[in-house]
Amino acid sequence: MKLGLFTDPHYSSLKVTCVTRRPSLSLGKMREALAAMADCDLILCLGDLIDDCGDPVKNREILTQAAELFRSSPVPAYSLMGNHDYHAFTREAFQETAPSVTPPPVLRLCGKTFLFPDSAYRADGISYSGNPFDWTDSFLPETELDFLRTTLADPETAETFVFLHQNLDPAVEMHHIIKNAAAARELLASSGKVKTVFQGHYHPGHENEIDGIRYITLPAMCEGEENRYAVYEI
Ligand SMILES: [Fe+2]
Repeated sequence: MKLGLFTDPHYSSLKVTCVTRRPSLSLGKMREALAAMADCDLILCLGDLIDDCGDPVKNREILTQAAELFRSSPVPAYSLMGNHDYHAFTREAFQETAPSVTPPPVLRLCGKTFLFPDSAYRADGISYSGNPFDWTDSFLPETELDFLRTTLADPETAETFVFLHQNLDPAVEMHHIIKNAAAARELLASSGKVKTVFQGHYHPGHENEIDGIRYITLPAMCEGEENRYAVYEI
């Protein structure tokens, strides 16, 4: 099957942020990516779909535009929520503004299992949703680890792919790494079922292999004027 992926569009009305990001170009870039992925079986954005414009009305407008684009795709298309999405929206408000854009925790398709654990938690176990947080503080609480353990132990789960906004790969810049990444990597490896972990968040991107699992961090779509997306045959 074919999997279309992109990450960190940071779509907003702002022309330039953090010197190198071009958030206002991302709606066009996403449109181009979705068109190029028309023969895929599944399309996923790995979070930071939008950026906070500093105005709640404007934020709802840009998220609505992004959601309409996702829903216009003939291929099922979903987006995880990243730290930037949580700056502008609680999880509930995001889902209300962009209905059916966030994926269910588990998808089973073409004999494969796709898992979407939520790493938008502080190390004290509090969700980012509706709470103050520091983007460098991300964590998989026991409920999320349990979800991974239980789903991986299910006999229905065979070849598995895991998707996260924040990073399990210990080789990316340290502030981007989930605080208990080592425990999560061990859990995934011990199942013997996980092929690849796809991540966003670390904008330059990176690739690694640990204990037989590939860790692919996609480069961010919002950086510069050129587009970045990828199609994987899995
Ligand atoms: Fe991020």
